Amino acid sequence: MTARLLRLYPGVPEDIALSGAYLAHRLHEKGSAGVPFVYASFVASLDGRIALRDPPTGESRLPAGLVSGNDFRLFLELQAQADCLVTHGGYLRDLAAGRLDDVLQIGTQAATEDLAQWRVDNGLSPQPAVVIASASLDFPMPDSPARHGQRVIVATGAGAPAERVAHWRRAGYEVLLAGAGASVDGGALVRELGSRGLRSIYLLTGPRMLDTMLRDRVLSRLYLTTAHRLLGGESFHTMLSGPELGNAGRLRLCALHYDVGAPDDAGQFFAHFEPLPALS
Ligand SMILES: NC(=O)c1ccc[n+]([C@@H]2O[C@H](COP(=O)([O-])OP(=O)(O)OC[C@H]3O[C@@H](n4cnc5c(N)ncnc54)[C@H](OP(=O)(O)O)[C@@H]3O)[C@@H](O)[C@H]2O)c1
Repeated sequence: MTARLLRLYPGVPEDIALSGAYLAHRLHEKGSAGVPFVYASFVASLDGRIALRDPPTGESRLPAGLVSGNDFRLFLELQAQADCLVTHGGYLRDLAAGRLDDVLQIGTQAATEDLAQWRVDNGLSPQPAVVIASASLDFPMPDSPARHGQRVIVATGAGAPAERVAHWRRAGYEVLLAGAGASVDGGALVRELGSRGLRSIYLLTGPRMLDTMLRDRVLSRLYLTTAHRLLGGESFHTMLSGPELGNAGRLRLCALHYDVGAPDDAGQFFAHFEPLPALS
């Protein structure tokens, strides 16, 4: 059966098809060269966990109760609208260790070919550029971007280890310095990517990148799936790990959808928010 969602906000409740629900947002048309549209997505439990850490190894994982096919379909629809995917060193280390799947290409998995065609029909390049944010610059480069002809940019801070910057430049990669310390600053990164003509930027990153994007007020939209279950767990990650965010954390709800029966017969909400302008 085709998956359906109940739109709860805005307007009167309406039953809509899940497939295409996020493609309808047309994120690729919202930015301009110079001022890209920057979006991120997370899936969290009702008690705010985005991942659990397993003692005693300290390894992190997405628990089964957080992920669902319906959420993954919407994730792929967000990816399909990107000129550029921002990932990070931690993801590439997990990918190389076999802990996570490769999600750096669009339309290459079974039943996602429609998204490859959607990009072509909507004037996007067959595959998005890939930006790798890293302070250590110590990560294995996957071979999938080269196989799919994707532009790869390494992003780091001006204080990153000089020999690692030289290493990636010698290997033929564009290395962009965006930030005064070792880490990437959100504002500097978005300006640099905008100046390269990238208009829609999807952050496939985690708490640190969300933090700097919000603080620098360059995040355009936050997508949040809330799985209707409590996870518990003594050691866990939440969406932010930095100091108190203050007013940069004020968001406005744009839409809320209810998925009645997933995952595991508990429901989930699909919401998206936009940051409010700075208070004067
Ligand atoms: N449920 C969800 O929706 C969701 C979403 C995202 C993440 N997660 C999970 O949550 C856990 C923590 O997320 P995370 O691994 O993304 O944690 P993170 O602490 O935000 O980032 C980890 C790595 O990314 C690089 N990085 C991030 N921001 C950077 C910046 N501004 N400048 C330079 N490098 C930066 C660093 O790599 P280097 O060490 O190479 O410098 C850092 O070690 C993981 O288990 C992840 O799978 C869940």
